[in-house]
Amino acid sequence: MVVILGVMSLVTLSIFLLTPDESHLLLLSRLTLENLESEDFRVHDPCATWLNENEVSLCTQEGHVVIHNLSTNLTTTLLDNSTLDLKSMKFQVSADKRFLLMAYNIHHSQLRSTANMKRIEYSNAEEQGCIGTNKEGYRQAEEEMETEERSCLALNWIHHVLCPFQVFSQSFTASFAIYTVASGEIMDLTPSEEDTSVLQYAAWGPQGNQLVFIFENDIYYKPDVSSKAMRLTATGRNGMVVNGLSDWTYEEEILLKYPAFWWAKDGARLAYLSINNSATPFMEIHHFLGGVYPSNVLYPYPKAGSRIPSASLFVVNLYGPAHTLEMIPPDSQNSRDSYISMVSWISSTRLTVRWLNRVQNQSVLCVCEATTGACSERHQMAMDFWHNTQRQEEPLFTADGSLFYLILPAKQGARGEFLHIASLPAQASTPSVSPRFLTSGNWEVTSLCALDEENDKIYFLSTEESQQSRHLYSVELGGVFHRQCLTCNLFERCSFFKADFSPNQTYFTLYCLGYMVVEDNSLLAMSLETKRLSETVFQTLSSDNSDLDVKMSLPPGYEGNLHPLLIIIDSIPGRQSVTEEFALGWPEVLSSLHGVALAWIDSRSQVSQGQKSSTLDPRKLGSLRIKDKLGVVEWLMQLPYIDGRRIAVYGKGFGGYLGLKMLTATDQMFKCAAVMAPITDFKLYSAAFSERYLGLPTKEEHSYMTASLLDDISKLKDENFLLIHGTADARVHFQHSAELLSRLVKVEANYTLQLYPDEGHTLREERSDQHLHRTLLQYLHNCLKYDPFLNIEEEEEEDEEEE
Ligand SMILES: *[C@@H]1O[C@H](CO)[C@@H](O)[C@H](O)[C@H]1NC(C)=O
Ligand SMILES: *[C@@H]1O[C@H](CO)[C@@H](O)[C@H](O)[C@H]1NC(C)=O
Ligand SMILES: *[C@@H]1O[C@H](CO)[C@@H](O)[C@H](O)[C@H]1NC(C)=O
Ligand SMILES: *[C@@H]1O[C@H](CO)[C@@H](O)[C@H](O)[C@H]1NC(C)=O
Ligand SMILES: *[C@@H]1O[C@H](CO)[C@@H](O)[C@H](O)[C@H]1NC(C)=O
Ligand SMILES: *[C@@H]1O[C@H](CO)[C@@H](O)[C@H](O)[C@H]1NC(C)=O
Ligand SMILES: *[C@@H]1O[C@H](CO)[C@@H](O)[C@H](O)[C@H]1NC(C)=O
Repeated sequence: MVVILGVMSLVTLSIFLLTPDESHLLLLSRLTLENLESEDFRVHDPCATWLNENEVSLCTQEGHVVIHNLSTNLTTTLLDNSTLDLKSMKFQVSADKRFLLMAYNIHHSQLRSTANMKRIEYSNAEEQGCIGTNKEGYRQAEEEMETEERSCLALNWIHHVLCPFQVFSQSFTASFAIYTVASGEIMDLTPSEEDTSVLQYAAWGPQGNQLVFIFENDIYYKPDVSSKAMRLTATGRNGMVVNGLSDWTYEEEILLKYPAFWWAKDGARLAYLSINNSATPFMEIHHFLGGVYPSNVLYPYPKAGSRIPSASLFVVNLYGPAHTLEMIPPDSQNSRDSYISMVSWISSTRLTVRWLNRVQNQSVLCVCEATTGACSERHQMAMDFWHNTQRQEEPLFTADGSLFYLILPAKQGARGEFLHIASLPAQASTPSVSPRFLTSGNWEVTSLCALDEENDKIYFLSTEESQQSRHLYSVELGGVFHRQCLTCNLFERCSFFKADFSPNQTYFTLYCLGYMVVEDNSLLAMSLETKRLSETVFQTLSSDNSDLDVKMSLPPGYEGNLHPLLIIIDSIPGRQSVTEEFALGWPEVLSSLHGVALAWIDSRSQVSQGQKSSTLDPRKLGSLRIKDKLGVVEWLMQLPYIDGRRIAVYGKGFGGYLGLKMLTATDQMFKCAAVMAPITDFKLYSAAFSERYLGLPTKEEHSYMTASLLDDISKLKDENFLLIHGTADARVHFQHSAELLSRLVKVEANYTLQLYPDEGHTLREERSDQHLHRTLLQYLHNCLKYDPFLNIEEEEEEDEEEE
């Protein structure tokens, strides 16, 4: 039986505000950046985690850590908000509920004083592993650690501090401490005999209070909190080999998460990746601030065509004497030129692993025996560039291991291929067996949630209700594959869900990421109700037999006015941006405050499009995308409430690239553009991304040249645009903008530049972030504001054309 635990809405929006009653609007104030920065507009994440079949741990809005027992409907407080300030840390409850593991931010002095925890001293360079050649050099290294929360280890390079893993989107280093629920005691988690408590990661295992942590790129294991730490690996070398964690490539492009280890359910075995970057070229990032000489940070970053990290999968036996075995990749995969994108345990001794070839158009799903290291192929498939999330998707195996379910593309008549649930026998792959599909139709399964064998059901998320929504469904495993929507009529105002099931599918937590308000974010909901927010409108257009989806956010009472328009381009190719997922940021302020209409466009090749996408050449995706988007912009310009003379475009990363490409492909169609950290040349960008998209640069020289922005700079000469870049961006290096700028200067182009010194792809300093929002708002408002002079001039031109 499935019982809904509760809806923890991360989200809200404003069906109330859509009423056409204008008098209602007058009472509402406009949304400002100050609003967004205030406490009232914060989204609260309940950090719900299943501890077992009946219990889930939660952090409440007041800052308590509680356990909710679903069989007794009782809530127990593990940690009171008066003991520690939870807002500044991450926490995890041990399986036996006796301990809390807390990661606290090393420069959160407030927390340190409340918790009376040990202060981290950077008194000794050797201790932290940072070697500076002179006092100045060391001072900078020290400051860097404090600002970037890194644990640094140096090679013998002069002036170079190597802080390889901690600067990216999810990774961090922190001090870890263990809180004992019964006694209220707090102790630091440290490797034995080490004085430092700065670790790269720590996590509980599935049994009792066993735990692992990662220190100096090696994995340590404690069978329980009080026992001595056992070192499981000894190959860790900073910047070169890391065990149990992702490097830059794995964190940002392959696994998309920081930890790279997986516990067997019974806690008896641990699988982990060992990522070897010995042959990978290093990227050097300069940090300018705080010293006389800038310091450099190096980390392995394979660019298109260069050597990529080699990843090996190991399983270590934790009960009894530690014994480690490597899982041997199938013959078709050369470990130096492949990636491991998914690992998941299917029983206490077997795991399923997905290997991808280097250009990522072929994947091999294997089953590995943890006791022997033998892996055998179960399914090979061609990977689409645009079905990005499938790389990480975990197949669901039956308990007896005879059958598995996964998401595969299925032909749906003339409409092309759509992703659906298929079952395959789990015997070593025989090419003759074709998959049996459980679902079909002109919509897509976006994610598998759980397999409930007792009730013969699979739970999944899909776009069946509408392309913009994500509802939770179940489908029966036999018969006519009866399908049921569990969330469609559950809440009137939510249509974008995420679900997290308890281990045996008795319960699930449901997250509403769409338009509605429930308990947890009532403060946010109340705050939003006082604001004039825009109305969201979805549209589907047809072009060349394929559908293009548009989402528009239109200012209240839009029909009576003429509005400027901002086109927002998503930074991740293949991710659907036309959804009902809630967002609140500077674009919503631009819309509320200055009456600018917003539009997001999904071109073909994006999730839930189907449409014969596999026949598209990924190398042409850039130009197709631009063509699609420009077609939609032309359609938008014709709308009676859109002012076709005042159109701007915004994008970041890959979106910034497309934004600039759209400027070069048109003649004064856009009044201006704002681009942040644009990719300007795919040769300078990450191997895993560029090669997935364009192939290897040695073989695809022409594709790389056509895709580059740098070769055709004269078309940008007469366009107005704002270029923004953080100089310490570890993802799209400042080098991209530098190459662009030197060419813009040569053609005497008219551009505006905003740099953020020592900031990354995501700005870390709150003040930089606020400055960025104000800069964008001001630039776009200035460019899009009504200009009577411009109108007269252009109307005259139009008159002339008519004659
Ligand atoms: C702690 O929780 C109580 C209610 O349980 C609440 O009134 C108080 O504001 C909370 N304190 C903090 C610092 O959040
Ligand atoms: C929760 O309920 C289960 C089943 O009734 C019980 O075994 C368990 O001890 C309870 N846990 C707590 C913390 O009350
Ligand atoms: C659980 O308790 C809450 C109040 O604490 C109550 O509102 C809810 O109805 C109870 N649920 C069940 C299933 O008994
Ligand atoms: C890492 O790779 C290099 C060669 O690229 C090899 O010499 C070295 O032994 C490897 N280290 C480990 C721990 O696998
Ligand atoms: C989960 O289900 C399996 C088989 O249905 C059963 O053996 C196991 O005990 C269940 N586990 C829990 C925690 O209920
Ligand atoms: C993968 O891409 C390469 C070139 O980038 C191509 O030669 C190869 O045929 C492709 N393989 C598949 C299975 O599509
Ligand atoms: C450069 O752009 C600014 C606005 O961004 C505009 O005011 C100015 O006229 C432009 N100059 C030239 C030479 O186009």
